[in-house]
Amino acid sequence: MTYLEAEKMLKSCGQEHVLAYYKKLSKKAQGELLKQVSTIEPKNVKYCAEALKKGGDKIDSSKGKAPKVAVLKGAALKKAIEAGEKELKAGKVAALLVAGGQGSRLGYDGPKGCYSIGPITGEPLFYFHARKILARSIRYGKPIPFYVMTSEANNAATVKCFEENDYFGLDPKDVFFFTQGMWPGMTAEGKIILDEPGHVFMSPDGHGGLLAALKRSGALADMKKRGISSVFFFQVDNPLVEIADPAFIGYHVMEKSEYSLKLCAKRDPYEKVGMPMKFPSGEYRMVEYTEMSDEQCNRKDKSGKLYFLYGSPAIHVFDRAFLEREASKNMPLHLAFKKIPTVVDGKVVKPDAPNGYKFEKFIFDILPNAKRAAFLAFDQKEEFSPVKNAEGNDSPATCKADMIAKWAKWMEKAGVSVKEGVPLEIDPVYALDAEELVKMGVWLSVY
Ligand code: UD1
Repeated sequence: MTYLEAEKMLKSCGQEHVLAYYKKLSKKAQGELLKQVSTIEPKNVKYCAEALKKGGDKIDSSKGKAPKVAVLKGAALKKAIEAGEKELKAGKVAALLVAGGQGSRLGYDGPKGCYSIGPITGEPLFYFHARKILARSIRYGKPIPFYVMTSEANNAATVKCFEENDYFGLDPKDVFFFTQGMWPGMTAEGKIILDEPGHVFMSPDGHGGLLAALKRSGALADMKKRGISSVFFFQVDNPLVEIADPAFIGYHVMEKSEYSLKLCAKRDPYEKVGMPMKFPSGEYRMVEYTEMSDEQCNRKDKSGKLYFLYGSPAIHVFDRAFLEREASKNMPLHLAFKKIPTVVDGKVVKPDAPNGYKFEKFIFDILPNAKRAAFLAFDQKEEFSPVKNAEGNDSPATCKADMIAKWAKWMEKAGVSVKEGVPLEIDPVYALDAEELVKMGVWLSVY
């Protein structure tokens, strides 16, 4: 992009101040600024400015009701598993991971997926995800292509982690990395913020940026070419997730759903998980924990159980064609008011209070657009223990303890009792579940 092109584009959306210091920059810095400006799309700038005027897209959750959630048992569970296995054997299933987040709450600098979590080996989160995908594809005799969304900040380190670990045994041609978009931050007046004279403040566009990134990168086209119809979506921080679980895939297929969600009973009324609700218009929407009132968090049904019981740990199955349909649409924007360094009279000023907005899209905002949605309950202890905080709840310590507890139950079934406090680890390729461990046998000595 040339200076004149940049100037014309920025003028078209009222942002020409971005080039205010251009003439004073070195040649190199000028080139870098123009490169950055070339990634900004005027239609997105206008869209963000409009969202600011509206104060962001918020949901009035007061009219929301709890959705019907299926609990599969006995014959119904068997039928769903069979339907899922059929889909897996036909090679119609892909795995989709969002791993573009910054891991700031955990206080870890690198990509969260590289964070060491294996209780014995210290293997990273990516190891457990990749080995489960490998195990599942070996079991059903068809590759499960693995699409990994990164951000500009962590893409190189993510790819390096996979390369250094030989893709954890996966075939590199079945692993597809793609990078989410970045959006400029803005003042309350809708002006793009420079955090240095030659640099625009930009931040990742949220996990909802997934749709645009899937399209832009060719990942959606790749899925279509491979004949994928069910896309299993999960987040990087949860090593307990049962990736491409046949019962969930099968339930999704049987329900002819476009967007299916696994839900688990909240551990306490204020657990920080999203809550799908049904609205009077008939559509479903995800309500974030921050958007629920105290009364809603604590509301009880006749039997004394929480009325809004089932929260979303962000484990979904999408119909591929649905993702394709949604990928060209605008998504709602969520605003975050933050302290953003700003250039004043050519000097960088670090503010003491929030002064600018970041914009994010959330993938679950496409839920109301699904022609059919399905909700399936599962046991939180078995499949959800995210690593979010450095200490306390949802920390590496609680996550490792939950991994060990899950494996200890498998060991019991395989005839080996495990003393409390003994670390355990099972490579998913050795045994993906208790039944497989029973079949394979436990060969390691346990002290
Ligand atoms: C999220 C969900 C919440 C859910 C909970 C379950 C949101 C707003 N809320 O909360 O409904 O119950 O997880 O654990 O998502 N990511 C990107 N790019 C981004 C931002 C995030 O790829 O720009 C990825 C992260 O790498 C991570 C996932 O999205 O894998 C979730 O991000 P995180 O910030 O941890 O979400 P939570 O607020 O914990």
